[in-house]
Amino acid sequence: MPFETLKPKITTILSNQAKTVEERLTEICQLLQTTIGYYDWVGFYFANEAQRTLHLKAYAGEETDHTVIPFGKGICGQVAESNSNFVVPDVKAQTNYIACSLYVKAEIVIPLFKNGKNIGQIDIDSHVADPFSKEDEFFLEWVNEQVSTILE
Ligand code: SME
Repeated sequence: MPFETLKPKITTILSNQAKTVEERLTEICQLLQTTIGYYDWVGFYFANEAQRTLHLKAYAGEETDHTVIPFGKGICGQVAESNSNFVVPDVKAQTNYIACSLYVKAEIVIPLFKNGKNIGQIDIDSHVADPFSKEDEFFLEWVNEQVSTILE
């Protein structure tokens, strides 16, 4: 697992104040998507609490139509309400799921907290069946904690 070797790279990307938050998040998405073979699409969504919608802010992988997702809809929308990690080993087994690509077999969504509040999430799609372990969850929780430090 390259997780430990990725951590210092992520810290370096996030500390680059010459780039916007969006640029830094895009770089993290690109790093994860290109380094971890089973991470085929990586994106960050952030919540608009008033509208109860999630908005795609940065991603790497194929373009998606799902740039705005209502709370409660799909895996992402459910995490906006549950505040809990959602690991989906087989997307076909989910009834409340928004398909982004026919190739996606599995998905993981980890909420991102700022001052204890669920303000967004990292979402990863995989073309591999059942690829995510606890190590992915711990790593992505760490990524989100680091990201939260550069957000307002
Ligand atoms: N599959 C997600 C939608 C976002 S795409 O994966 C980029 C969901 O069910 O919420």
